[in-house]
Amino acid sequence: KILGIVRMSKTILVTGGAGFIGSHTCVALIAAGYAPLVLDNLGNSDVRVLDRVERIAGQRPGWIEGDVRDRALLDRVFAQHRIAGVIHFAGLKAVGDSVTDPLGYYDNNVHGTWVLTQAMEAAGVHALVFSSSATVYGETDPPIAEDAPCHPTNPYGRSKRIVEETLGDWQLARPHWSIALLRYFNPVGAHESGLIGEHPQGQPNNLMPFVAQVAVGLRERLVVHGNDYPTPDGTGVRDYVHVMDLAEGHVAALRKVQQAPGLLTLNLGTGVGHSVLQVVQAFERASGRAIPYTVGPRRPGDVPANWADPSRAAEVLGWRARRGLDAMCVDSWRWQQGNPKGY
Ligand code: NAD
Ligand code: WQD
Repeated sequence: KILGIVRMSKTILVTGGAGFIGSHTCVALIAAGYAPLVLDNLGNSDVRVLDRVERIAGQRPGWIEGDVRDRALLDRVFAQHRIAGVIHFAGLKAVGDSVTDPLGYYDNNVHGTWVLTQAMEAAGVHALVFSSSATVYGETDPPIAEDAPCHPTNPYGRSKRIVEETLGDWQLARPHWSIALLRYFNPVGAHESGLIGEHPQGQPNNLMPFVAQVAVGLRERLVVHGNDYPTPDGTGVRDYVHVMDLAEGHVAALRKVQQAPGLLTLNLGTGVGHSVLQVVQAFERASGRAIPYTVGPRRPGDVPANWADPSRAAEVLGWRARRGLDAMCVDSWRWQQGNPKGY
């Protein structure tokens, strides 16, 4: 049996690894003994994040600047590195932009994933973890389990759903492949060091970065998008999940796809919903600053409430979110205060 022990490669290709979730996942990968190799076109990120990951984790991720749709580049990357698996974060994620530029979104998110999958097949790499989103469900009564019907309501959500369905077809056709489709709920927060975090370009679309920018004085006030929803305080309810919990979920999913072939679809969320006003109050506690807000109309396309049933990820991966809303706000604030202009 000794002859059967082969030293496994620890190199993991992390597409989009310079981004928000990808950079935190690099930290978790290094902590778990992996060697992340980041491929990113820097369309929505800053290469200086790699210095910060190195400071936190004590190891620098490998780095390739390029686009996931560049097949010739991918072929070179797979030829030059012994890659054990791929975590595929690279993609566009702004719902509003996807409505004005649907084909750009399908090209990046759908075509990009297909090019990557074909390059993996050619290179004999068969373990893939894909960034999907709870947005694939559309409007469904919470808690949402993975077998809930999927009715995405915008091109971004449809791009994620198309990838899920086509990767499902691919796994049926290539049963030795192992694919995890991870549906994130609302990722927020930052690494507890405050050295890496989320820095949206321009006005943030998402609640937590907006609140953080109000707290630090970059913006005057939050506009709460509606307080007449059928929720306890009338504002929208979401399942906010700490980005480091999410990062650890990716490490667990990676281990799983390296063990056995198959297709896994998993929610990554906490199972707990918080309203907009609860987030505002938690951020006020975390920062010691007042967060002024006004109430505006509902934002088109918003659902009243959603949160995950996260039990499948607990059963299959042994993964549970450990950090609560206060930790999310404290860590987000530490990052925001230390880096008000990003990297
Ligand atoms: P992000 O924009 O911070 O990270 C995405 C990274 O991918 C960026 O660094 C960007 O430069 C890179 N990228 C984009 N297109 C690329 C391409 N064609 N080739 C190479 N690099 C490319 O976003 P994030 O929040 O870290 O999200 C990561 C993934 O998770 C995305 O696929 C997103 O759709 C998905 N997701 C995000 C959320 C969220 O709320 N943040 C929720 C659910 C799912
Ligand atoms: C949360 C709540 C808003 C901003 C989005 C994407 C989804 C996923 C996660 C990628 C809602 C309210 C917000 C503001 C507000 N991303 N809000 N004022 O819409 O649940 O999900 O990010 O996959 O696909 O749609 O997150 O942070 O934008 O909003 O009142 O300035 O905060 O109405 O109730 P959302 P969000």
